[in-house]
Amino acid sequence: MSEPRTPVFAANWKMCHGPAETAAFMERFRERHAPRDDATVVVFPPAISLPAFAEARAGRPDLRFGVQDVHAEVEGAYTGAISAAMVPATGATWGLAGHSERRREFGDTDAMVARKLRRLLDAGLRPVLCVGETLEEREAGRLEAVLETQIRAALSALHAEGRARLVYAYEPVWAIGTGRTASPADAAEAHGIVRARLSGFEGCDPPRSVILYGGSVKPANIGQLLAAPGVDGVLVGGASLDPDSWAAICGAGA
Ligand code: PGA
Repeated sequence: MSEPRTPVFAANWKMCHGPAETAAFMERFRERHAPRDDATVVVFPPAISLPAFAEARAGRPDLRFGVQDVHAEVEGAYTGAISAAMVPATGATWGLAGHSERRREFGDTDAMVARKLRRLLDAGLRPVLCVGETLEEREAGRLEAVLETQIRAALSALHAEGRARLVYAYEPVWAIGTGRTASPADAAEAHGIVRARLSGFEGCDPPRSVILYGGSVKPANIGQLLAAPGVDGVLVGGASLDPDSWAAICGAGA
């Protein structure tokens, strides 16, 4: 059983909100969300909007931000890609790796995700490793095996100090963007599996590891999800795009 901790509210904007929309969002969100020291708020805008986010959050260091993906290499002939080493200069301090859309749409494999985590760590960013099963895998009774494979592949490629800095996001693929949320009991079960899988890896501290839930989180279900055992925060897509809805989520448990 994990000890109580301050929740993390993370927003994954995916390919939504360019620089102008980011500025407009932030103007409204800053009014609706006062800084709170009992929670962490972090937004993952599209890379092209990182400078706009940095500018729009001036004077609000409580509003952290990060990058949705980086390339597995540091530099080179990779047209269109972004290097983790380029990210800190924008002021961003976090990075996602292994989101199911990256795995599905862009072919990110477990081995690539592991290398991306290393790049994020080398750049001094805080990585969030996203894991989760498809509906087919869940129905075949493979939840535990899938999570185990994804976690093992990532952690085996990292040093103990790197592992110690990882945050996790459990996102069942069948709940992402579908309106179908995992029940608090489902989330608690999966978070328990993730936590159990961390033990045995030097550098990991399972009871203190931060594990976020993602998949159709909204203002209406944030309270019950956050109350589920072992859920330390949320990673929110669709409901984070509207500043009022995102402010409602970030106000949960205050
Ligand atoms: P959703 O996306 O909240 O729109 O389901 C979550 C995610 O993909 O991180």
